[in-house]
Amino acid sequence: METRTALVTGAAQGLGQEFAVALAGRGYRVAGLDLVPQPDTAEQILDYVELIADATDETQVHAALERVLAQFGTLHVLVNNAGVYAESAFEDTTPEEWRRVMRVNLEAPFLMTRAVLPYLKAAGWGRIVNIASATVLTAPPTMVAYTASKAGLIGFTRALASALGPYGITVNAIAPSLVRTATAERTVGADDGFEHVRAQQVVPGTQEPADLVSTLLYVVDEGSGFLTGQTLNVAGGSRYS
Ligand SMILES: NC(=O)c1ccc[n+]([C@@H]2O[C@H](COP(=O)([O-])OP(=O)(O)OC[C@H]3O[C@@H](n4cnc5c(N)ncnc54)[C@H](O)[C@@H]3O)[C@@H](O)[C@H]2O)c1
Repeated sequence: METRTALVTGAAQGLGQEFAVALAGRGYRVAGLDLVPQPDTAEQILDYVELIADATDETQVHAALERVLAQFGTLHVLVNNAGVYAESAFEDTTPEEWRRVMRVNLEAPFLMTRAVLPYLKAAGWGRIVNIASATVLTAPPTMVAYTASKAGLIGFTRALASALGPYGITVNAIAPSLVRTATAERTVGADDGFEHVRAQQVVPGTQEPADLVSTLLYVVDEGSGFLTGQTLNVAGGSRYS
């Protein structure tokens, strides 16, 4: 079988880095796209294609993809992982902040998908994975814009799965509860956030990025062709999910 190729957004750190490294470990050729350079990811992956681009900018996305195709010649897997958290009282959420969250968390996956689609179609096989969030179920009061963006991403996942099924392309979402990444620790995890989430779970402990790898690999697996349009809640049995 030809070597599968994958593009992961937000690959500089956190979940994106974990996913990129895991896919490479499974034999995929991997490209990562992020706003910033990705030295920590690059040093763990042989033949890594580092793309510095804004996933919300269509021109930059297309230029980045040209580089991937020049290097790999084909593309099979897209992981829409780049995202921004936004925490504030709803009354303090400005229209600018709302739009920023929607652009990164919802519009960028649309732009990325639109850009990669011709290549996945040409390959006759594809996997699109959108990283949503368990907040769509836990509904934290201080994350209204974020939760709305991730709920939109789940709707995008379901309808896109219907649209792309005929091409042999599956589309699924993974919805993690709070995961210990540097950004989570700095933002949502501060002020007892991790403790609060742990108390809602039946699985003891805090979720680490590595705890999501098996779900990603399952979704992109050759044998998962009948799994599409689904959202996999990986939330330690949180009583809300
Ligand atoms: N960590 C958690 O607790 C958690 C829980 C549920 C869902 N998620 C989701 O998982 C994803 C990754 O979370 P994380 O904690 O690893 O985040 P992170 O902040 O560690 O990493 C996100 C990466 O995305 C990049 N990025 C942001 N905007 C971008 C843009 N416009 N174009 C390209 N790259 C961009 C950032 O530079 C960063 O490297 C996000 O979508 C997040 O919403 C995270």
